[in-house]
Amino acid sequence: MESIAQIAYLISAVLFVSGIKKLSSPATARSGNARASLAMLVAIVTVLLDTRILDWTTVVAAVIAGAVVGGVLARTIQMTAMPQLVAVFNGFGGAASAAVAAAEFVRVGGSGTVLGLGDGVTIVLSTLIGAVTFSGSLIAFGKLQGIVTGSPVTFPLQKTLNALLFVGIIVVGASIADAGIGGTVAPLFGATALDIGNPFFVALVVAALVLGVLLVIPIGGADMPVVVSLLNSYSGLAAAATGFVLGNWILIIAGALVGASGLILTQLMCKAMNRSLGNVAFGAFGTEGQTARVKTGERPVRDVDAEQAAMVLAYASSVAVVPGYGLAVAQAQHELKKVCDLLEDRGVTVRFGVHPVAGRMPGHMNVLLAEADVSYDKLLDLDDINAEFDSTDVVLIVGANDVVNPAARDPDSVIAGMPILDVDKARTVIVMKRSLSPGFAGIDNDLFYMENTLMFFGDAKDQMSELVKEVREA
Ligand code: TAP
Repeated sequence: MESIAQIAYLISAVLFVSGIKKLSSPATARSGNARASLAMLVAIVTVLLDTRILDWTTVVAAVIAGAVVGGVLARTIQMTAMPQLVAVFNGFGGAASAAVAAAEFVRVGGSGTVLGLGDGVTIVLSTLIGAVTFSGSLIAFGKLQGIVTGSPVTFPLQKTLNALLFVGIIVVGASIADAGIGGTVAPLFGATALDIGNPFFVALVVAALVLGVLLVIPIGGADMPVVVSLLNSYSGLAAAATGFVLGNWILIIAGALVGASGLILTQLMCKAMNRSLGNVAFGAFGTEGQTARVKTGERPVRDVDAEQAAMVLAYASSVAVVPGYGLAVAQAQHELKKVCDLLEDRGVTVRFGVHPVAGRMPGHMNVLLAEADVSYDKLLDLDDINAEFDSTDVVLIVGANDVVNPAARDPDSVIAGMPILDVDKARTVIVMKRSLSPGFAGIDNDLFYMENTLMFFGDAKDQMSELVKEVREA
């Protein structure tokens, strides 16, 4: 059985790695997801059969409960609420790792054996990272859901308090390992018993939960997707530490994969916004409410109605569509697809320019466009579409703002250096949004006032439905 289990773990590991590889392109992402799910199934079944220590009634009840909750959530969740769902999933992943570490701590204590130094360190790490991930993710969820204020919560000496808490955690963690190996510090505090009431263990859990809250509250609500990605990485590290606690190497591999990919994703998002991780974590930037203070609309714009916009689009030979957060808010992707189909029927070449941080989560636009059955080969990334704009007749911007803001070229702008889609190089630009309000970064957009720009005001879904009718009649 031992060698069969090892082979099954190996198969699972290969499926995990190849599944993640397939997630790198929208064309293969779906099968990558299926492959990684299969890897998880193989891993779970192998653990259950290999360890033979679990009560099957509990296992079956837990699987049914988990499958029902997961299935209902996945079916009913709105696309715009996906970041907070991921935040909750990460949080529970972290809590599960901490719970397993706590159970192992109690089990070792109950068996009367001495906790080895290695066990002590991995149990402390798993509990610490798991608890930080849990409370941090709940705050991220609260901010995204509007339950907790989206504004950065800062107070004097905040970083000092975090640092002190961290030092305290190291001391408490070292004391747990010390208690385990029969050291001298822990018994002074009556902490020799390795049970769940061990004062060092309780202090570790409480301090880690507080640290999770303190690390996330100073970050603005709109920066939460970056934080969620970072917490995702933490949940992987917690799982990997739990793998060491249990001596289960598939958990170590799966956790390390999640940890590394979460970190890479965080870095990619920061790069696409031209911000450092430190700026996201400590910059107190990204409150969407701050946009209201910006003066906009003091300069004249040229606005068009659906009929005029349809004329411009229908008589173009090439159109580039740039989707943004507003497309997700309005859920206008299906209507957009209808407009694109009608244009293509007329012989217009239609392509999509997808900015890596358009929307509010990685791959947000890709998922929306996939939902509407837009073919992947029409999706061009930043560099490819930027090379095409000066030979494009019309750019249709749907609910995007910062990712097309030429202010990024101004070294004094708050978005200075952020890579943007150079839509202003196209012959005509149509911007579909409800008003001249700024986007996430809270700054006005010179694009709206340019000579070749036509503003098409209104909710993207309503306006897109109007466009469908007008393009048909054009
Ligand atoms: P934004 O700059 O946020 O602009 C979205 C625009 O959509 C708004 O200006 C809004 O204008 C419009 N809008 C909202 N609801 C609409 C509706 N129902 N119909 C039509 N338009 C609507 O979006 P973007 O260009 O996609 O840029 C994304 C921003 O988010 C970037 O600054 C990026 O750094 C940041 N960010 C992204 C991520 C990820 S991973 N994607 C993570 C963190 C931060 P009106 O109110 O006038 O309609």
